[in-house]
Amino acid sequence: MITLRSPHEIDLMRRAGEITAAARALAGEMVRPGVTTQEIDSAVERFIRKQGAVPSFLHYNGYPASACISVNDEVIHGIPGKRVLQEGDIVSVDVGAYIGGFHGDCAATFPCGRISPEAQDLIDVTRQSFFEGIRWAREGQRLQDISAAIQGYVEGHGYSVVREYVGHGVGAKMHEPPEIPNYGRPGRGPRLLRGMTLAIEPMVNAGSAAIQQLSDGWTVKTLDGKWAAHYENTILITDGEPEILTAPAI
Ligand code: MF3
Ligand code: CO
Repeated sequence: MITLRSPHEIDLMRRAGEITAAARALAGEMVRPGVTTQEIDSAVERFIRKQGAVPSFLHYNGYPASACISVNDEVIHGIPGKRVLQEGDIVSVDVGAYIGGFHGDCAATFPCGRISPEAQDLIDVTRQSFFEGIRWAREGQRLQDISAAIQGYVEGHGYSVVREYVGHGVGAKMHEPPEIPNYGRPGRGPRLLRGMTLAIEPMVNAGSAAIQQLSDGWTVKTLDGKWAAHYENTILITDGEPEILTAPAI
């Protein structure tokens, strides 16, 4: 069952989304050579708590941090630690904040200093695939219209979408129905209705779609060692354009 949010619940989700987006922005500003991923995680946690919110990821299924920070060939769920970011790295930061009974969830991949044109293209295509997807995030469309648009855009640029991990409904719980794959067929899946709140999150590999899970139980890397990028926002289905609840402030 896909929950439809009331106007009051939507207001609460706007607040959660705003804090989550600001935490992502803060993390992005901290991405530079010499910084450790755990320094970014600490700043994210401090910021979220200062807003009166709680980091959604901390202790979720035993996850030990507030942000997921995934570098280069790490796709998602990288655990922050002593790793020192280097010039040329690409750094995916995924954050969630819970306040007023609701979660925000968003991610982006940031360049560390000067990066290669190839890495920048991967970041740009991943981000744009989200926007290609949400062109279809309208009442009356079907869920896989979004999925298919993301897949078509990504594969049209010679990259591949990860299959094992998907977007999801988000609200009172961080992961709610429906699952939102980044691949699919137009016209399939549940019909979209106003009041649905969804986390759309393309995970894009420069090489093959295959991934491997590390022995830390969390970190997901590409199998071929090529780099990956991630972009995610929490959105609201409306009677018109979708509203991005985790939109950047400017
Ligand atoms: N943003 C991630 C997702 O959408 C959540 C991170 S997993 C966690 O699935 F366990 F670290 F929280
Ligand atoms: Co998510």
